[in-house]
Amino acid sequence: MCGIVAYIGKKQAYPILIKGLRRLEYRGYDSAGVALLNGELNVFKRKGKVKELENFVEGKNLDATVGIGHTRWATHGKPDDINAHPHSSGNGRISLIHNGIIENYAVLKTLLEKEGHTFVSETDTEVLVHLIEEYQNRENLPIEEAVRMALKKVVGAYAIVVMDKQDPDKLVAARKASPLVIGIGEDDFFIGSDATPIIEYTNKVVYLNDEEIAVITKDGDLQIKTIGNVEHTPFVEHVEMEIEMLEKGGYDYFMLKEIYQQPATIADCMRGRLNAEEGWVFLGGVEEHSNRIINADRIIIAACGTSWHAGLIAEYLIEDLARIPVEVEYASELRYRNPIITEKDIVIALSQSGETADTMAALELSKEKGALTYGIVNVVGSSIARFTDAGSYIHAGPEIGVASTKAFTGQVTLLTMLALSLAHKRGTISKSYFQQLVNEMENIPAKVEKLLKVNPQIEFIAGEIKDATNALYLGRGYNFPIALEGALKLKEISYIHAEGYPAAEMKHGPIALIDENMPVIVIATNKSAYEKIVSNIQEVKARKGMVIAIVTEGDKVIGKIADYTIEIPDTDEPLTPLLSVIPLQLLSYHIAVMRECNVDQPRNLAKSVTVE
Ligand code: F6R
Repeated sequence: MCGIVAYIGKKQAYPILIKGLRRLEYRGYDSAGVALLNGELNVFKRKGKVKELENFVEGKNLDATVGIGHTRWATHGKPDDINAHPHSSGNGRISLIHNGIIENYAVLKTLLEKEGHTFVSETDTEVLVHLIEEYQNRENLPIEEAVRMALKKVVGAYAIVVMDKQDPDKLVAARKASPLVIGIGEDDFFIGSDATPIIEYTNKVVYLNDEEIAVITKDGDLQIKTIGNVEHTPFVEHVEMEIEMLEKGGYDYFMLKEIYQQPATIADCMRGRLNAEEGWVFLGGVEEHSNRIINADRIIIAACGTSWHAGLIAEYLIEDLARIPVEVEYASELRYRNPIITEKDIVIALSQSGETADTMAALELSKEKGALTYGIVNVVGSSIARFTDAGSYIHAGPEIGVASTKAFTGQVTLLTMLALSLAHKRGTISKSYFQQLVNEMENIPAKVEKLLKVNPQIEFIAGEIKDATNALYLGRGYNFPIALEGALKLKEISYIHAEGYPAAEMKHGPIALIDENMPVIVIATNKSAYEKIVSNIQEVKARKGMVIAIVTEGDKVIGKIADYTIEIPDTDEPLTPLLSVIPLQLLSYHIAVMRECNVDQPRNLAKSVTVE
């Protein structure tokens, strides 16, 4: 949700900024812009992708060793050149980039207009840069003090970087509820919304905390103070990230690369946490809270989108295996509905990015109410990872395709290990069943590898249904959340309307939609309700629907009824989601490619949703 990059040092800033923007483009691609400081303050910005900006600046003077850059996901004001960042003060002295939302911008704007400020854009961000200018003018303050005073008046979320033409050897950065990372180079500094634009130059980083302001100078000085004017010592950390993780590595799209990485990412998630030979599961990040979790009244899972679907699978897993009641909540609903949460509850936040604003707010509320908060997150050092009482990383590596794939299977892998560990400790499953499931977990990466070989068959089926305008996904039990996830994947990247339903619910409404133009994707691997799901398929066929069934290898029945079947390797029912989701990821990928959609950057979306 908007990407921020900045540089100060001895190198040319523009190439660093533009490369950084390309890496951050997954956070928003409505417009892109840079401001470069070299005696003059030159701002270049363009509606559209970073490529448009690159074309626009061709032949222009880009010489500068200090600069800021931004890629936008529009909130206030349509995506156009004027609303693009950076935004400048009325006197043209200050330039600012911002990720977040200034909630009280309307009030501030009215006050500033009374003071004679005029605004050119429709953005909340422009109000902030004028407010800084106002403080600077009124009290002749240095830029960092003017920023501090302005931020005291601001309600909302922000990560900002500010440049002042009259103080050209300095960048000022600040954050509240939106991420910001400072990279420390040999004799220079880099700033990013995350580490991806920085990692090429340094792995030494400082994660800024909420309400901290960093002042960075060309001569190598980094100072951090709070908005309340208290000095903080920068805490330098090392990021483990290889540059290859940020490249497509020969694949056409990041999404395809990430689908194919899953045998490895699932194995990485289990490494050191599960051992079949010795028969144990151990999640280090929660061990010290183990007693509290196994004796909890209830586990509440808060998440959004695909992560919410992983949460639904956890509800089946934890209730089935560990017999602890679980509620799965949309974080955006949980935070505003006056929920009953007590210190006997455990609140698990699931988030790939670790930055989702609603999930973060749900956690804050839960902590206030005394619950133990537990974050299951992919991005190392992210806000949720740092906020929660306990945590586990899923170790999927950077996920760049906007549609989540490997992070989903990482979350489900982690949650399966959690359910197994709780079940073992609570004695709610037999030792032999525990051992059977642990053994089978170790087989999952190889089974995913094998499953990926059905790709050509899925590509063929994609060709058969690519022109559909609607699709229905049906699943029962552990496969119901997979039906929801399959439908979400299809709609977000191919713009085909799709719905996921519990298979048995179909006859309570959606069956009215079925005709020969409606592909119905049925996940039919369940052993426990096999006959029921076969009946559901018959009901669809009786109404001329086209059925694509995901079945267990060797299934002899469904192939005779369905139009197409895709086989997945046999596994224990609680582990099925880790396999059954893979063909659905591939199906939506191929359909989107055939429809010439931008698979990695679907319209209107952004990877990390840091606003409400
Ligand atoms: C869908 C997708 C989104 C995210 C959602 C939550 O493919 O990626 O639905 O799952 O925005 O994001 P995180 O997991 O970062 O909190």
